Parts: sequence; C-alpha cells; structure tokens
Amino acid sequence: MRILLVFCLAVGALEAQARSAPALSAGPHGAWNVVPALPGMGRAIEAEATAARRQALLARIGRGVVLIPAAHERDLETEYVQDNDFRQHNTFFYFTELEVKDAWLLMSVRGPDSTDVVLFLPPRNPTPEQWTGVRLGPDSTAARRTGIATVLPLDSLDRRLRMAQVRTRGPVYVPLDVSTKDERRLTDLAFLGRDVRNLRPIVDSMRLVKDAAEQARLRMAVDISVLGHLAAMRAAHPGIFEYEIEAAFEGEVRRQGADRLGYPSIVGSGPNGTTLHYDTNRRRAQDGELVVVDAAAEYGQYTADITRTWPVNGKFTSRQRAIYNLVLATQQAAFDAVRPGVKLMTLDSISRVYMREHSGSVCGPSTCDTFYIHGLGHWIGMDVHDVGDYTTPLAPGMVFTLEPGIYLPEEALGVRIEDDVLVTPTGALWLSAGAPRTIDDVERVMREARAARR
Ligand code: GLY
Ligand code: MN
Ligand code: MN
Repeated sequence: MRILLVFCLAVGALEAQARSAPALSAGPHGAWNVVPALPGMGRAIEAEATAARRQALLARIGRGVVLIPAAHERDLETEYVQDNDFRQHNTFFYFTELEVKDAWLLMSVRGPDSTDVVLFLPPRNPTPEQWTGVRLGPDSTAARRTGIATVLPLDSLDRRLRMAQVRTRGPVYVPLDVSTKDERRLTDLAFLGRDVRNLRPIVDSMRLVKDAAEQARLRMAVDISVLGHLAAMRAAHPGIFEYEIEAAFEGEVRRQGADRLGYPSIVGSGPNGTTLHYDTNRRRAQDGELVVVDAAAEYGQYTADITRTWPVNGKFTSRQRAIYNLVLATQQAAFDAVRPGVKLMTLDSISRVYMREHSGSVCGPSTCDTFYIHGLGHWIGMDVHDVGDYTTPLAPGMVFTLEPGIYLPEEALGVRIEDDVLVTPTGALWLSAGAPRTIDDVERVMREARAARR
C-alpha cells in the first residue's frame, strides 16, 4: 500500500512537472519532419482525425451536400502584403489539415452508409512553382497523404457538384464568412435558387471540443509560447525597449518551431500596460515599471494565448504586489470552479465577485473589479478568440483562457495574468503553468537571469 502510494506520488509529481514546464530539448521544441510532397509547412496530416471530423459532420447533417473552399494564393506583386505568409482557411483545414491553395472539398451524404468525399486540386504547373514552390497535384500522392480516396482535378468540380446535388436532394452547406464572401462558386449557388445554408454554425460548434490531435497541437503552441515568455522575462532590464522584449519572445518561439504568431505581440510597459491591446511596442521601459506581455505562438494552425506581467527590474514594489496578488487569486478562484457543466459566464461572475470581495482598500474607494474592464476569458483554438457559442456548458476537451486584470491608468499600472486551461472529465488542467506566475517564481527567474548575465 505504502509503495503504491509512493509510486502514485512520484508519478503524480512527474506528471505535474511535465505539465508545468515544457521539456528542455537540444533541438526546437516543436520540431517536426517535413513531408516533402506536401506544400505549405509540409506537416504530416493526421488522416484518422480529419476523417473522423468529416464523418461527424456528415452524420450531423444527415442528408445534403457540403462544399468548402481552401484559401487562395496572395499576390505579392499586386497586393504588396507585408508578410507573404499563406494561412489556410480554418474550416477547410479542420476537415483536411492541408495547407494547399485554391483547392475545394466536396462532401455529400444521403444516409448513414452513403457518404462521398472528394478533394479537388488544381493541376501542377511548373511556371508558378518556380516562383512559389512545389504544389500538391491531383494524383495518388495526394490521396495517400490526405487519406481522401478520391482526388480530382479542379476543372471537374462543377460537374461533380451538379451530380451530387441531383443525387442527394438535400441542402447545400457552404461556409459563409468574410473569407468566402467573394467566392463566385458559392454566391452563384445561392443565386441559382438552391437551398443554400451556412455551414459555419455547425462546424463552429464542432470546433468547441478539441479532439486529441487538436489538443496535441494546442499544447505544443502553449509549450512553445511558455519558452517565449521565459526568454522575454530573462531579457528584461530597466531601459529595455518594448520591441526588444517583443524580439526576445518572437525570436525564441520561432527558434522553437512556431509557425507564426497567434496574434500581434502586446508588450506594454508602464502606462502602455493599461491599454488592453497595445501592440506598438516602441516605448522604453523605465526602472520600477511593470510590463504586460500578452504574446503567443501558433503551431500547426492552433494558437496559445498567454499574458505575463512582471517588473522590468525584476522586483515587485509592495503596491505592484498587492494588485498582482489580487489578480492572481482571482484567476485561481475562477480556475477552482472549472468543471464540466459550468458556463464561462458563470466563471466570469465568480471572478468578479471574488475580486470585489477581496479588494479591501487596494483600489481606493472603489472595489478593484471596477478596473477589471474586460471579460474573464474566451475559447482558443485555430483562432485566438476561437469560434463557438459562449452559452455552451463546459465539456471535456474545451480549451479557454482565464485572464483577469486590473488597469489603473492614473498610476500607469496594469496587471493581466492569462493562462490556457483544458477542461477534463473532473475539472481542469493549467496548460501554461510553465510560464512563471507567482511573484516568487517570476522574481526567481528574473534574478537567475540577471546573475547569469554578470
Ligand atoms: N491576446 C488577446 C487576448 O487576450 O484576448
Ligand atoms: Mn485572451
Ligand atoms: Mn492574450
């Protein structure tokens, strides 16, 4: 019995350690083997997971046709985009994990045992490939890599679509959103008088619960972001520019294998820490100030969302401590209430009540919740503010942020602490706990970094 207990404690401690800090490895944390046949990031496709998502969608629809476009190539010559990054549409990615341009996915369902899935790809063309790289063509490689048995050239799409509508006689579901509003093929369907319905509400509700493959990607995004926050804290010193902190974060996450940022990095020192989405990042941080760093990496199309607030000189003042510890305890109170069945808005209320009741005189005549001027949190996933209905009760596999804050512009003092949390069958897991959160941990990391610099 005793041995079992010791064993359980040891395993528990190891698990806690594994959860609280990403393992240090010689190479990039998020390294993966590129699949040369695949364009874009060349990342392997989790064919079982995408097939299960397609089946789940078709089962939910019961009868009908689904048509989903991929994103298109951006034209560097005419659009003058500042980054030349291609990012797939999330709806297309969810069902394919493919980073191809100009593709289409056509699915139809006539009953539980009668489904049809076809991927359409443009033919390969050596001239554009010379400029922008190899593409996946409509051939057996594509079928093998994607797990979609039928892959056809794009010019056969309209004929197959007409055939599918004749055979299926159900509605046509298409994603109607800002990324698809100019898709002629979709708007034409509506003008032809078809029963066209928006696919997004169905897909968005599916995306609320992350499957195992999605959770693995999210965890990697979080772990890489944690390393970025550690690098940012370690770089700090009075007089550092906000963009140097930004560079420390972004350099580290790219080194660790991040595909891109989840959103523009927010590095607000002193007064800028009270502007919620300040991302100009040009000010010089002064001795004695706090810095709010809200930054995260994207990995495999999934993004983390983490904020840490720390003193640029590595030591909190007693005033900063009082505010910080109230935000921290508020976040903990919300976390302690997370379990399946609870709603995010209930957690939001719990956090506000906690802050109000524990404010004392810290925020003067008002209670501190007056200065907690945004919501407690939001879903994360392929979007940093991910899709999904906020009235949905929590269920295992949902992932969201807990990010209370207090903002006091008159004191040039802002504190936000933001962590990513996974709902489990019995409660919740902190995913981002590896980024120092308590005052002791923050000060220790910064002290050690200072000592190492000397
Ligand atoms: N990083 C944006 C947010 O926390 O909502
Ligand atoms: Mn957030
Ligand atoms: Mn954030």
